Amino acid sequence: MIASYYADIIVTIILFLVLAMFLAPLIFFGWLYIRNRNQTQHSLLRGKYWFLGILRYVIEKVGPEFRFYITDADDGGRPISRVKFVSIVKAAKYLKTLISFGSKRDFAAPGFFIRNSLFPRLDGELEVDNSFLIQTRRYSITDESLFFRTEKMEEVEVRPWFLTEANSVTIGPDRERPWRLRGLIGQSGMSYGALGKSAITALSKGISMAGGSWMNTGEGGLSEHHLSGGCDIIFQLGPGLFGARSPDGELDWDKLKGIARRAEVRAIEIKLGQGAKIRGGHVEGAKVTPEIAAIRGLTPWKSIDSPNRFSQFHDTPSLFDFIARVQETTGLPVGIKVVIGGQESLDEVAAELHKRGTGPDFITVDGGEGGTGATFKEMADSLGLPIYSAIVIADDSLRRHGARGKVKLIASGRLHLPDDLPHPAYPRARGVQGRPVPGGQRRAVVSAAGRRGLICGIITPFLHGV
Ligand SMILES: Cc1cc2nc3c(=O)[nH]c(=O)nc-3n(C[C@H](O)[C@H](O)[C@H](O)COP(=O)(O)O)c2cc1C
Repeated sequence: MIASYYADIIVTIILFLVLAMFLAPLIFFGWLYIRNRNQTQHSLLRGKYWFLGILRYVIEKVGPEFRFYITDADDGGRPISRVKFVSIVKAAKYLKTLISFGSKRDFAAPGFFIRNSLFPRLDGELEVDNSFLIQTRRYSITDESLFFRTEKMEEVEVRPWFLTEANSVTIGPDRERPWRLRGLIGQSGMSYGALGKSAITALSKGISMAGGSWMNTGEGGLSEHHLSGGCDIIFQLGPGLFGARSPDGELDWDKLKGIARRAEVRAIEIKLGQGAKIRGGHVEGAKVTPEIAAIRGLTPWKSIDSPNRFSQFHDTPSLFDFIARVQETTGLPVGIKVVIGGQESLDEVAAELHKRGTGPDFITVDGGEGGTGATFKEMADSLGLPIYSAIVIADDSLRRHGARGKVKLIASGRLHLPDDLPHPAYPRARGVQGRPVPGGQRRAVVSAAGRRGLICGIITPFLHGV
């Protein structure tokens, strides 16, 4: 009796579930059909082929992921290919970069190859400082199947690969507070606003753990999150003067002095442009929280468009006057960030540097392929030369004007993996002096945010290290 009673209940439940399985999609598409028939925005969804219309919107929505994970060739995706993306994440999360079976590179395609030595140096013969180990953590995969992956975090010690004292790079040797670098890779400017506090905090802590590196604030001012890790910082001054701005929008020299007095702040970068946009920065109002507005000296929740150029200077001589005043006021090395548009782009700067014997302590050359929080497609696509050409032009221009030894070059723009670096680092393979220093950025975002960093449109921050 009781058994047949329970059998009836089970049969009823199964029948109900089967019915629901058939009815639910019918109800859902019925609701979609009625909803689309009554909307006025999309005629495609009101017509006979409304279902195809829905499919189109669905495919548009998942298209980027579909292409990234399925249809794109391993090295086909842009701005960061899957093979690069995976290498960055593997290096950052698992501290593993070994591959097996061989390279996926198309060796028939034009490109750069690193010249190897027949007698590579032994570890002990390398001019690096590995006299101590860095404590850090990494994930290791303990179990993996098609549907899940279990990982555990483990403590590990890694070698710092610092430059030795003899090999270290000094920026601004004639300044009150010269900056000595024991590493060659840093994080380019990303403003607090384009990135959120968790990303900035993680970057600051990660860079501090790695050591021998630096973090550039970007043009959004210096925040406590930048300072949270205690790493070396380049304070970037953009045309919006954020962070050192007086209430009437002028440059507040006392504020700038205050920033420069911080022990973490090692240099100031005056932003003339970035590869993805040769215009002022833009941050959507929705991202201008009261905290960000306070740091920038602006009104909360109001979109920000900083001017295309500084009002403090308008040509090379006035730029040099401004740099000199910032150097005197702060005692710090001061550099400029530029985009090279043609063979002669840096000639005036190089000539002035030679004529005056002093000027910017470093020049950051950002390639046209450099990233951004927000810009116009046409600008990102077509303004400014790519880094491999730009850095050679910059190096050449300085040499032609006898000014190469007076300034350090920093290169950035899709320099994401170790084998992206040699070319900009040795445009002419002449001597350690004047060796450019690569900067990198979206690599930072990728290994923290993964694909999400790209999906959020204007990159909503996440967490990451150099
Ligand atoms: C989210 C984001 C925000 C950025 N903000 C700034 C900025 O405030 N100032 C600046 O000079 N460059 C900015 N950039 C450009 C980078 O500093 C850098 O020049 C460029 O991204 C280098 O290319 P990479 O990302 O391929 O390494 C930003 C880039 C990104 C991705």
